[in-house]
Amino acid sequence: METVRVNLGPRSYDIAITPRDAASGSCGPFVRAALPKASTALVVCDSNTQSHGRAVEAALAEEGLRTGFATVPAGESSKCMEQLAALYDALYDLAADRKTAVVAVGGGVIGDLAGFAAATYNRGLPLVMVPTSLLAMVDSSVGGKTGINHPKGKNLIGAFHQPAGVWIDLAHLNTLPEREYLSGLAEVVKYGVILDAEFFNYLEANAQTVRDRKATGLAQVVARCCRLKAEVVEKDEYELTGLRAVLNYGHTFAHAYETCGGYGTLLHGEAVAIGMTDAMRLAQKLNLVGAELVERQRRLLEALWLPTAPLAEFATDDLIAVMRRDKKSVGGQMRFILPTRIGEVKLFDDVPESLVRSVLESR
Ligand SMILES: NC(=O)c1ccc[n+]([C@@H]2O[C@H](COP(=O)([O-])OP(=O)(O)OC[C@H]3O[C@@H](n4cnc5c(N)ncnc54)[C@H](O)[C@@H]3O)[C@@H](O)[C@H]2O)c1
Ligand SMILES: [Zn+2]
Repeated sequence: METVRVNLGPRSYDIAITPRDAASGSCGPFVRAALPKASTALVVCDSNTQSHGRAVEAALAEEGLRTGFATVPAGESSKCMEQLAALYDALYDLAADRKTAVVAVGGGVIGDLAGFAAATYNRGLPLVMVPTSLLAMVDSSVGGKTGINHPKGKNLIGAFHQPAGVWIDLAHLNTLPEREYLSGLAEVVKYGVILDAEFFNYLEANAQTVRDRKATGLAQVVARCCRLKAEVVEKDEYELTGLRAVLNYGHTFAHAYETCGGYGTLLHGEAVAIGMTDAMRLAQKLNLVGAELVERQRRLLEALWLPTAPLAEFATDDLIAVMRRDKKSVGGQMRFILPTRIGEVKLFDDVPESLVRSVLESR
């Protein structure tokens, strides 16, 4: 078992990572230790993670917790007011009070949705994350961002709400569809590019093992990503200093592809893989990096079977329009997180639109 501590003063918590090949321990004692006073728990899962949710529920019951169970339809469209309201109803039916924990068992959608319900119901309930997708394990369940989508924009309604603990059972990956697993690897590559050249080298040398979900090293890969994200969050919990924004590398482009393609066409990590390729090419146009880095990142993404260019045609004007509305774009200037070498990125806030256009139009 690997443990990563997230140090946030009174909001500190542990991320426990149990290996995939060992008989996975129960999350019951972990949740009990994280929340000694909890008396009740609402387990939230989606239609694809129900069996994992039921196992978690049984483990909590063994710790003497009274449990409720809520299932929402799988998919990004569940990050909406209607499903949020359904969770509030489930919490009300459970007579939830401050001793009630919300336990999110699923991918990033469940973490964001159930996390936001926990952040807001009764002015805040404790939250435990049990991420079951790779993306949720290495990214969304760490750091305290919760929320739902507005019909006009992703993640527009939300709150910071740190979990009391994160329980990562790598055995949950056994049921994750291949495309979802590969999509999660885009965020893994992201950590290497933005923060950790040694980790990027490791991924290059072990791309096939990582892609094939081999148990060897997977716990260490997930732990390394959690540690890297935790270090950023520890320095900039509320995204105030700009440091946390490094995690958005590739995401300005990615959000434009996701929005223009309609949510659900490209998986998030696929859009991030294309977005990171665009961002690296933009960095090259600004003479921050040479062509060899563009190629190195592209080769690694392709070795992980991730896309590096959009499969469909997008109108440049539509993509630019979305990017200009992006939270990170201030006063009409285009802002980007761009690499200066592998393992280091910086914020550039006066990128000429013409260069962005040329990245989008030349492939
Ligand atoms: N809060 C944050 O910091 C943060 C960071 C990154 C992404 N996100 C959000 O996360 C979401 C994407 O997360 P995701 O990729 O995990 O999406 P997801 O939750 O939709 O999961 C992807 C798919 O895999 C299924 N699934 C998950 N675990 C499974 C398992 N073990 N077995 C079988 N099927 C399983 C889900 O049902 C779903 O169909 C987006 O909404 C994004 O905005 C949030
Ligand atoms: Zn992301």
